[in-house]
Amino acid sequence: MKIAVIGNGNIGAGLNDALARAGHDTATYGREYDLAAAIAGAEVVILATPFGAAPELAGQADFAGKLVVDLSNPVTADFSGLQLGHDRSAAEATAAALPGATVVKAFNTIFAGHYASGLSINGTPLQTFVAADDAAAREKVMGLARDIGLTAVDAGPLKNARYLEPLGFMNIQFGYVLGQGADIAPQWQIAA
Ligand SMILES: NC(=O)c1ccc[n+]([C@@H]2O[C@H](COP(=O)([O-])OP(=O)(O)OC[C@H]3O[C@@H](n4cnc5c(N)ncnc54)[C@H](OP(=O)(O)O)[C@@H]3O)[C@@H](O)[C@H]2O)c1
Repeated sequence: MKIAVIGNGNIGAGLNDALARAGHDTATYGREYDLAAAIAGAEVVILATPFGAAPELAGQADFAGKLVVDLSNPVTADFSGLQLGHDRSAAEATAAALPGATVVKAFNTIFAGHYASGLSINGTPLQTFVAADDAAAREKVMGLARDIGLTAVDAGPLKNARYLEPLGFMNIQFGYVLGQGADIAPQWQIAA
């Protein structure tokens, strides 16, 4: 699959490498690239940018008709909480900023370091929770997740991102505030 990953930071680089290892035609694009051309040629666009980048990106490329993956956790600048939640989500805000795009929430509970270390803990694949209103788009992203070794769990409609994002924040709390370290991830065994 031809994939454009916007952002070349911790997640963008790690996820891009994992997708490339799985055989996908994927590349990362930072601010220095012509995003219009990159988006036009991509079947799937992954926003590996901080929450809030979508309105700026919308001014640089046409996202209409594109499958866009939002993996953000909309944490505040001081990491003390989320910028929004419960009655809306970063994923829904991204969808509103990119009219005509089909937005899928995924990967937000996976710490960046796991992409290089195999996406499993003690031999058990990590799970990722995939939410979207479009069932075909949700299944396509679940397929990408499986391709890189994750267990993909159908998390229902996009509005369920309202609950997946607090889960991502709790993961940050466990990992960085409550002393469990970054080598953790939600490891509930939800049937995939
Ligand atoms: N790190 C994790 O473990 C983790 C886990 C789950 C989810 N996430 C989510 O993943 C996203 C990225 O996190 P990260 O840790 O990878 O952050 P990061 O290392 O700071 O990378 C963000 C990247 O996005 C780029 N960027 C920002 N605005 C852009 C724009 N308008 N056009 C092109 N590139 C742009 C940045 O470029 P510049 O350097 O030029 O600003 C940077 O390369 C966030 O939404 C975060 O909540 C992170």
